[in-house]
Amino acid sequence: MGAGPSHSDRFLVRPNGPLGGTVRVGGAKNSALKLMAACLLAEGRHELAGVPHIVDVDIMAEVLTAIGVRVERRPDGPSGEPGNLVIDTPAELAPRAPYELVEKMRASVVVLGPLLARAARASVSLPGGDDFGNRPIDIHLHGLSSLGAEFATVHGNIEGTVPGGRDARLVGSRVVFEYPSHTATDNVLMAAVLAKGTTVIENAAREPEVADLVAFLVDMGARIRGAGTSHLVIEGVEELHPASGPHRVVPDRVVAATMIAAVGLAGGEIVVEDARADHMDMLLHKLSDMGLEIQQRPEGLEARAPARLHSVDVATLPYPGVATDYKPFLVTMLSVADGVGIVSENLFSGRFRYVDELRRMGADIRTQGHHAVVRGVRRLSGAPVRAPDLRAGAALVLAGLVAEGETVVSDVHHVDRGYQDLAGSLRSLGADVTRI
Ligand code: EPU
Repeated sequence: MGAGPSHSDRFLVRPNGPLGGTVRVGGAKNSALKLMAACLLAEGRHELAGVPHIVDVDIMAEVLTAIGVRVERRPDGPSGEPGNLVIDTPAELAPRAPYELVEKMRASVVVLGPLLARAARASVSLPGGDDFGNRPIDIHLHGLSSLGAEFATVHGNIEGTVPGGRDARLVGSRVVFEYPSHTATDNVLMAAVLAKGTTVIENAAREPEVADLVAFLVDMGARIRGAGTSHLVIEGVEELHPASGPHRVVPDRVVAATMIAAVGLAGGEIVVEDARADHMDMLLHKLSDMGLEIQQRPEGLEARAPARLHSVDVATLPYPGVATDYKPFLVTMLSVADGVGIVSENLFSGRFRYVDELRRMGADIRTQGHHAVVRGVRRLSGAPVRAPDLRAGAALVLAGLVAEGETVVSDVHHVDRGYQDLAGSLRSLGADVTRI
């Protein structure tokens, strides 16, 4: 696989005036990873289109390889379109996801549902991933237990079994989620498609990436109703087959938001190709309150910046609310807006760590518990800063676009987890961002 040549771990960012031009977003990381896991559910050759070249995809490919699956990338297209991912799933799986991989990427836990469904057992190391807040998997385990799986924690691994031996099957059930967890919905959905009888998931996550997974599973022969709603009904089938043709991953709304935030900060007018307004409704509302003009065009979203951003209050909520992933971009924009904005984080407790870095760049932000009070200043000031996680890392790069002098963002390996080429994308819009 490989995400290309190994890179240095810093970005140098200098302000370079308003942005202009067109940039394309690739397929969504948080869909691609689950679609890859879904390929475990049927023996045969699967093909995914638009899977970005990002580190998390490489890690998921390693997870699948450890399970006995072959993952290959076809050559990239002439215009840089990533080659399709071809995933060959054998009849027999080695149902385990080892520590070295799960530790690198929390999302590896989504192999748990498919493995229990296919192999009646699974050994998955307890997940690590982004270091924000306490991120347990109790909702996943509760859901899978409702379908008949049994779990024990042994030497740091979750050992799951379906009682009844190798050919045992999960049994459909009504699962009520305490919280609409995105990956727990993916996991239970993928377990339920091969269970005996009907499963109902109440309070399911409604993200466009979940709907994308449902579409893929249906194309593989699954019977699912309610995609995009909080009430999913899954009638288990005996077996699935590879989808009828290559499945194109839904566009990445967080990458799209990154580009729109960039133009909001640096000024100018851009087109974000493939971005879908209907996947970003609440965010677009907020951005328009901040003064951005955003229009859906056939080719994507056109975004134009105001002379100065207006301050607004923001609270993160599960989809369709304003996603927690957008928050670092919003806080960065509020840092240079014309008033005071209050930002409340309702999902992940530790997700304000980048605020210290923004303060080093001259931002006036006070945090208390889940809330941040952001008082806009005219301009930030370039400084060496450290990316604490994927989205915050991208936000610090954006901050550099409106900071006097030079900003050097280090630890950008976090950014590589979810952006194919953030510096290149921003450069194509006229920004001065280089990897050093
Ligand atoms: N939660 C539990 N127990 C669980 C699962 C979740 O308490 O069993 C809590 C979490 O601790 C958190 C909240 O529920 O407070 C939200 O978690 P959720 O499960 O919805 O998030 P996730 O599925 O782990 C996905 C994305 C995240 C994105 C969130 C919210 C993937 C691989 N990750 O995480 O994306 O922030 O949904 O939309 O799909 C990223 O792309 O960098 C990223 C972190």
